[in-house]
Amino acid sequence: MNKLLTVIISVGVIILTSLPVLSADTDLTSNTGGLESLRGQVEVSTINSSEVMKRVPRDQHLIDRNYVQQPPLIPHTIRGYQVNLNANKCLSCHSFKNAGTMGATKISVTHYQTREGTTLSDVSPRRYFCLQCHVTQADAKPLVENTFTPVDSLR
Ligand code: HEC
Ligand code: HEC
Repeated sequence: MNKLLTVIISVGVIILTSLPVLSADTDLTSNTGGLESLRGQVEVSTINSSEVMKRVPRDQHLIDRNYVQQPPLIPHTIRGYQVNLNANKCLSCHSFKNAGTMGATKISVTHYQTREGTTLSDVSPRRYFCLQCHVTQADAKPLVENTFTPVDSLR
């Protein structure tokens, strides 16, 4: 009986001492191999804390473009503006038909063109979902360093 007890205790001691030491700064969740992405050093399976919503300025002057063919940035808030199968709030101000009376910039002719270059009589399906290309601006720090400078003619 005594012998059995000694065996059980020593096996227990061996198991306990062979466990890795868990210090306070051992990160049990991270197995990223030291890599860090824009969402931080967090594994894909881990839910990251969400970013604080940025405040979009209410109305501002038109924002300069940095390169030819850049979709211009949206200089106003778009909260509650719906774009779906039944309605396109953006076009209620920006379409050729409404832009004049609403005092908004007309969408350019490229918004009526198909991929093959045919000009349609209404907005081309590939330009219907405005927010695919146009975005509002917020005062946010760049996520990564960017040394881009516009071409001379746009500076
Ligand atoms: C209530 C009318 C209205 C609605 C709705 C509206 N806009 Fe505008 N938008 C304007 C006005 C007015 C301007 C500014 C024109 C100016 O200052 O010369 C503008 C400016 C813009 C510009 C800048 C154009 C440039 O040349 O820099 C973009 C891009 C734009 N809007 C996109 C959108 C998108 C996308 C939506 C839908 C999510 C939208 N707008 C909804 C009225 C509207
Ligand atoms: C596939 C990308 C794309 C989509 C979708 C798109 N645009 Fe554009 N938009 C552009 C680009 C690129 C330009 C600048 C070059 C040009 O005019 O084609 C532009 C220019 C504009 C301009 C300025 C026109 C001018 O003459 O200066 C307005 C206003 C605008 N878009 C509004 C809209 C609205 C409203 C929608 C949705 C109905 C929309 N865009 C959908 C890419 C897009």
